[in-house]
Amino acid sequence: MNLIIFGAPGAGKGTQGEFVSKSKSIPAISTGDMFREAVASKSELGKKVSSIMSKGALVPDSIVLKLVEERLRKDDCKSGFLLDGFPRTLPQAKGLEEILARSNKKIDKVISLEVSEESIIKRLSSRRICKNCGRKYNLETLPPKKEGICDNCGGELFQREDDTASTIKHRLSVYFIETQPLIEYYKNQNILQTVNGNKSVPEISAEIAALL
Ligand code: AP5
Repeated sequence: MNLIIFGAPGAGKGTQGEFVSKSKSIPAISTGDMFREAVASKSELGKKVSSIMSKGALVPDSIVLKLVEERLRKDDCKSGFLLDGFPRTLPQAKGLEEILARSNKKIDKVISLEVSEESIIKRLSSRRICKNCGRKYNLETLPPKKEGICDNCGGELFQREDDTASTIKHRLSVYFIETQPLIEYYKNQNILQTVNGNKSVPEISAEIAALL
């Protein structure tokens, strides 16, 4: 099954993507995670995208498409995959179709998480992530047992550089202009499934499981 999990920044794509990945045994491919890894490793790609990401702007389509094409060629994508945070623009959506068509594949479903702007701002400003194992927390809805420390591995928790108030605002405005129009695009292809992302994590997971 070839899937896209779609939604605004902080809609819960990563959280639900992990659930789908485990339940369907397919890799969750997050372009945001791939870019953050490139930045952390100080690779050529990382140097190119670092300042773009910290401003909350979009990485150019050509760079994103090349990265995704290489990733989708890997063996673990043969029996399906879930894309998180990609596509984010119309040229990316069209580019993805061309990439998939070259190996007679297509996207089967787009799961769109709809979350109010107010919740998004709250969720992102209270998100914390483990430096060591990457587990995500939320100071309001999913706090760690011990402040600043990961329950899973004892690692230190940090706040993403782009989770500050002004950058969150910018990321949202980029989403409304560049990304939200894709909802109509996938609706017209009859592959869009909308889920109310304002519910609790397990409730949303159950709804997604029923759709798949
Ligand atoms: P990316 O990493 O993709 O960021 P994003 O789309 O802004 O999404 P987030 O990772 O912030 O949120 P999420 O929806 O995964 O929510 P999460 O599950 O963590 O991209 C980062 C940057 O990389 C971009 O700004 C851009 O610069 C670049 N980039 C990436 N892809 C690109 C592309 N295709 N084209 C161009 N540039 C690209 O949840 C958020 C918080 O809420 C967590 O704390 C979580 O615990 C909590 N939470 C989750 N679900 C719930 C719930 N149901 N109830 C309460 N709390 C919840």
